[in-house]
Amino acid sequence: MERESAEERLESEIGRLLLSEEAIRQRVKALGADIRTAYSSTPFTLLGLLNGSLLFTADLLRELPPETEVLFWRVQSYRGTVSTGFPEGLEAERGDFAGRAVLVVDDILDSGCTLLAVEKRLRALGACKVDYCVLLAKRRARTAGAPVPRWIGFEIPDRFVIGYGLDYEGRYRGLRSIRVLAEETVLPEK
Ligand code: HPA
Ligand code: MG
Repeated sequence: MERESAEERLESEIGRLLLSEEAIRQRVKALGADIRTAYSSTPFTLLGLLNGSLLFTADLLRELPPETEVLFWRVQSYRGTVSTGFPEGLEAERGDFAGRAVLVVDDILDSGCTLLAVEKRLRALGACKVDYCVLLAKRRARTAGAPVPRWIGFEIPDRFVIGYGLDYEGRYRGLRSIRVLAEETVLPEK
C-alpha cells in the first residue's frame, strides 16, 4: 500500500488545516506593508511575546525596515488547552520604554487577559504609545478592558489551534501551517 504523505498524517493525527503556509506568508507580508506605512515617521520597538509569537515576530520583522528594534518578553497564561486567566512572567520583564512607541506582537488573541496585562506593564515602564498586532483573533468575548489590536491577521473560530508558534503542551510550534487540534490527539511520550 502506498505510504500516507506527511500532509495526510498531519490531517488525520494532529488536526485539520485551518491556514496554509502560503496563506500565512501572504498575510504576514501584507501586515508588514501596512505597519511600515503606519510607522513611517515614528520610531518604534517591536515587542514579541514568547513563546507563541516566535515565528510570527521573526517573519514580520523581515518585512519591516532594517533599523527596527526588536525585543521579546516571556509570558504564559495557558496550561494545556485552558487559560488560567493569570498571565505569568511579566513582573520580571523590564526595559527602557520611556517615551517609546511599542508594537506588541502576539500569536493569538483569546480572552485578552495577556494583552491587558502587557499594556499595564508597558505603561508602568513609560511607553507612550502601544499598538498590538496579533496573527489570530478568536471570535469570542474578551476580558473587560482588553486592548483592541490595530492589526489582526485572521479572525478564527473559537477552537484550540496549533502550529506556526502555537503549541499544545509545548508541541507543534514548528508546524508551518495552523491546524485545529484534533480532540483525540494523543501526545507522544516526551
Ligand atoms: N492554541 C494555542 N495556544 C493558545 C490558544 C490556542 O488556540 N489560545 C490561546 N493560547
Ligand atoms: Mg501556549
